Amino acid sequence: MSENAAGVRELADGNELPVLGLGVWQVQDGRTCVDSVRWALDAGYRHIDTAQAYGNEESVGRALRDSGVPREEVFITTKFYPEGGDPVAEAEKSLRRLGVDQVDLYLVHWPAGGPTRAWAGMERALERGLARSIGVSNFSAAELDTVIAAGSVVPAVNQVLFNPWHRRTRLVEACARHDVVVEAYSPLGTGRYLDDPTVSKIAGALGRTTAQVLLRWAVQHGLVVLPKSTHQDRIAANAQIFDFALSDEDMAVLDGLDETGGTEQAHENKWW
Ligand SMILES: NC(=O)c1ccc[n+]([C@@H]2O[C@H](COP(=O)([O-])OP(=O)(O)OC[C@H]3O[C@@H](n4cnc5c(N)ncnc54)[C@H](OP(=O)(O)O)[C@@H]3O)[C@@H](O)[C@H]2O)c1
Repeated sequence: MSENAAGVRELADGNELPVLGLGVWQVQDGRTCVDSVRWALDAGYRHIDTAQAYGNEESVGRALRDSGVPREEVFITTKFYPEGGDPVAEAEKSLRRLGVDQVDLYLVHWPAGGPTRAWAGMERALERGLARSIGVSNFSAAELDTVIAAGSVVPAVNQVLFNPWHRRTRLVEACARHDVVVEAYSPLGTGRYLDDPTVSKIAGALGRTTAQVLLRWAVQHGLVVLPKSTHQDRIAANAQIFDFALSDEDMAVLDGLDETGGTEQAHENKWW
């Protein structure tokens, strides 16, 4: 991996967040998850994105221990399952499953029951040292405003669906105004954009994979990217995005694929 792959973003609370992370949604708990996380750590990833809802925190923790990479070198995110329960009690369970003393980032997975419902509990989890930073996921600009107005800690991060088809410019701008770092989830459209002809043409001209082009596009927009894969070669290749750049023209072509109209919403098909 190129040395720039360790690129980091500084969060408003002063903590540092690696720009590239491995996502483990839909990665089966057990051997598949342990291997995937281990391959990522071996390839130089220093950021893993899991969630209570994914059911694989134990495997993430096992891979981390087996890798021999010091705990303080790896940024671990988990997410509060927001349909019930207390963020503090659920964080304590996550820490036991992960086998760590604290997570680096603890997110409200989605604004179930409204944007503020979980936030006081998230702040308590931060105060108790269960997480080094706290943030949100799937929050619109209006929901972000509401939680910021109600709370005493500003979310450090908003993790949202972001790729050329879901560019949501006004939401990204709103996050920037509040100094909230945006993380791009499903940066490959859960795989559905990997054969897109526009992306393929740009990738072909650059001698890159379509996945690398999609990830690079998000990084050049200043976002953190969280690609998921369970294949060792793909995990390694997805990290090779810091040794090339997309031209302004290629960026504009990809920007033109947006289907959100630059929305300030976080999601078109809410499941909550
Ligand atoms: N906060 C939220 O609500 C939320 C929601 C969705 C996702 N996320 C986070 O974002 C992460 C990524 O999103 P995602 O899981 O939707 O998927 P994604 O990263 O957009 O795409 C993953 C898919 O692309 C395939 N793939 C990956 N790299 C490839 C490559 N180089 N060549 C060919 N195929 C490749 C993977 O297949 P293989 O695995 O077979 O390689 C998988 O089918 C999640 O894992 C999760 O951490 C968060």
